Amino acid sequence: MDKLIVHGGSTLEGSINISGSKNASLPILAAALLSEDDCIIRRVPDVSDTNYMIQILGALGADVERSSGTVRITCAKIADTAPYELVRRMRASICVMGPMLARLGRAVVSLPGGCVIGDRPVDLHLKGMEALGAKIEIEGGDITLTAKNGLKGTKINLAGTHGPTVLGTDNVMMAATLAEGTTVIEDAAAEPEVLDLANFLNAMGAKITGAGTRTITIEGVDALHGVEHTVIPDRIEAGTFMAAAALAGNDVTLKRVNREHLKAITAAIEESGHKIEFNKAGTQCTIHRGEQLSGVEIETSPYPGYPTDMQAQMTALLATTPGISVIKDTIFPQRFMHCAELKRMGADIKVDNGTAVVHGVKKLTAAPVMASDLRASAALVLAGLTAKGSTTISRLYHIDRGYEHIDEKLLMLGAEVERVRD
Ligand code: EPZ
Repeated sequence: MDKLIVHGGSTLEGSINISGSKNASLPILAAALLSEDDCIIRRVPDVSDTNYMIQILGALGADVERSSGTVRITCAKIADTAPYELVRRMRASICVMGPMLARLGRAVVSLPGGCVIGDRPVDLHLKGMEALGAKIEIEGGDITLTAKNGLKGTKINLAGTHGPTVLGTDNVMMAATLAEGTTVIEDAAAEPEVLDLANFLNAMGAKITGAGTRTITIEGVDALHGVEHTVIPDRIEAGTFMAAAALAGNDVTLKRVNREHLKAITAAIEESGHKIEFNKAGTQCTIHRGEQLSGVEIETSPYPGYPTDMQAQMTALLATTPGISVIKDTIFPQRFMHCAELKRMGADIKVDNGTAVVHGVKKLTAAPVMASDLRASAALVLAGLTAKGSTTISRLYHIDRGYEHIDEKLLMLGAEVERVRD
């Protein structure tokens, strides 16, 4: 298993391009199952999660070709059973369920495993499929959905105890594109990645309105055709590098971003005393590290609120920001695995009941630390940038799931990092 050694103390400067969004790419790749025609998807990041999804689509019978960031997928004929061996490795594979059910009238997908950030139920996904007319059986770890007479449009509310479900909204939206009649999803997720998927589906001939708001209406059509689409920029990768630049930067510039998608992250980083300047088009930004810094209060919430996927990275930034910060994760209250590792580096953090209280310390000290999940590992890399000494981060496969060539990008900005193959 690879390790990353981060030598603390270097100053980041210069500019990098932000990659296409992992969390937009995954449902969009799955949506190609809805058509027999060629789908060309550009700026798909080369990360293990998108590679898993491509493997799953291949195992379902899709013809897939990838050259750098462009993926061509043709799903002329597809099977109705997603392979357990592949599905169990990535929760997001659940979003093949909606397209398979809509296209074939049957889908067998294994129940996704849990993960360290918290319980990852799929009850809302199944509530949506059932509302569309699917019969559901769960046996031996597999979900079998059948809709012999096809799916029928209906009204569905997807609010859960922790807010709306992103992939649940995606699944229901995809299934509804080929249902008979109209579907209305209330309390839908409004993330930019859901809107990007809706734009992809509409370009395939679907009739979706309201995506990006809490109420999405889908008018069923008979068939969807092929399409070419470029995935939106990854707002979480951009936010991660914004935090890195605030921590250790000297006017770092990030290109290929979307200012609209970064509002909550920008506001939080500026509130703690840094300055983030966007160009007129909002497609690039420069982060100016602040002098007068102070702690902040952050509470994660569904888009356009502060994203849970940026909670760990912000905690790493606030660990050495003077003052007291309070970070509450309302979406994944257990998503604090990074705090124990940051405390090994000297951070002063108390975690209780879904909230971390951080007292900023002057400097962290390098220590061997272990990545536990995608965003926690990013937080450890950030902490290593300004820690005294060299931080070794093990189980690097976590970070490779969602960050495209993160070590190369850090090296381009002048960080001293090295990937060590075990
Ligand atoms: C998506 O996961 C993202 N993944 C996650 O990013 C992100 O943290 C999450 O949305 C929240 O923004 C992808 O887009 C691939 P949810 P998803 O369904 O859709 C509860 C990363 O780091 N819930 O929106 O699986 C659930 O427990 C990943 O890139 C139910 O109760 O998350 C959680 O508390 C990590 N029942 C809340 O809703 C359900 O059926 C939000 O989960 C589904 C979810």
